[in-house]
Amino acid sequence: MTEPDHYSFRRYLDAKRTVDRRARNRRVADAFRRGLEGVDEPVDLCEVGAGTGAMVETILEWTADTEVRYTAIDADPTLVEAATEGVADRVADRGHDPDRSDGVLRIGRDETPFEVEFRAEDALAHLAAHKETYDVVVAQAFLDLTDVRAALETVADGLRPGGVAYFPITFDGVTSLLPPVDAELESHIERRFHRRMDTTEKVGGETGDSTAGRHLLTAVPATGGRVIAAGGSDWVVRPTDGGYEGDEAYFLHHIVDTIESALAADGTIDAGQLRAWAAARHEQIEAGELVYLAHQLDVLTRWPGSA
Ligand SMILES: C[S@@+](CC[C@H](N)C(=O)[O-])C[C@H]1O[C@@H](n2cnc3c(N)ncnc32)[C@H](O)[C@@H]1O
Repeated sequence: MTEPDHYSFRRYLDAKRTVDRRARNRRVADAFRRGLEGVDEPVDLCEVGAGTGAMVETILEWTADTEVRYTAIDADPTLVEAATEGVADRVADRGHDPDRSDGVLRIGRDETPFEVEFRAEDALAHLAAHKETYDVVVAQAFLDLTDVRAALETVADGLRPGGVAYFPITFDGVTSLLPPVDAELESHIERRFHRRMDTTEKVGGETGDSTAGRHLLTAVPATGGRVIAAGGSDWVVRPTDGGYEGDEAYFLHHIVDTIESALAADGTIDAGQLRAWAAARHEQIEAGELVYLAHQLDVLTRWPGSA
C-alpha cells in the first residue's frame, strides 16, 4: 500500500510549475500585467499561500520595468525555507544578482529593483492585520482551500484603494483520470474526493471548496467587487512520446496518492478495491498512459469600494 506521507508536497509543488505554465489563462494574465502598469511604484504585492515561490519567479518575469516589493507568505515554514533558497538559486542561474540580507531577497535589475520578503504565517490573518496595505494580492491554487467569500472579504480589506487581486488556477469541480480503470468506481471516486475537500478543515480552520472557481464569479460582486477578467485554466497532463514533460510523472503520482488518501479517510470504498485502483493508476503513469484533467478558473478582480 502507498504510504500517505510517502510523497513530498514540496517536490509536487515544483513539479506542477510546468503544468501551471501551460494552464494559465493568457487573456487574464495579460489583463493582470496591464493592471500592474497603472499602479504607482514601488508596487506592494502580497502573495497568499506562496508554496515554493513559483509565482515569485513568474511575476519577476512579468515586471521587468516595474519596481516591486513582494511579500510571499505561506503557513508552512518548511515551504517558506524552500522558497527562500530555491528562488535565490534559480534567479542567480538566470543571471540576476540576488542579495539576501535582513530577511529580504533583493534581486538586482538595473533601474527596477525587485525585493521579496518570505514570511511563515497565516496569510489571511496577515491581511486582516494589515488593512489597506497592498496594491496587489495574488493567490494561486489557494482559494479552494478556504471559504471563498470570507477569504475575499479579507483580501479586499488588505488592498489599498484601486488595488487588484489575481486568483490563477482556482479549482472548479472536475477531476478526470483516463482511461478508466473501473468504470463504475470512477464517478464515485471523483464525487467523494470533491466531497472530502468540502468537509475537511484546512489551515485557519476553514473547510475547502471544490467549486471555488465558479463561486468566485458570484462572491466577488457579492462582496462589492468587480470581476475584470476570468477564463479557464484547466490542467491537462498527457503523455507525449510515451513520457511526461519535466517532473510531471511525479506530479501525477502525487495526485493519485492524494485521491487515494482522501478516499481512504472517506471510507466509502472497500480498502482492497481502493488499493487496486491506485496501483493501476500508478502503473498507467509508469507506462506513460495516464491522462489527467482538472478544471480551473483564473480570475482578476478589483473592489471599487477600495478605489
Ligand atoms: C496548493 S498549494 C499552492 C502553492 C502555490 N501557490 C503554487 O501554486 O505553487 C497551497 C498553499 O497554501 C498554503 N496555505 C494554506 N492555508 C494557508 C494560510 N492560511 N496562510 C498561508 N498559507 C496557507 C499551503 O501551505 C500551501 O503551500
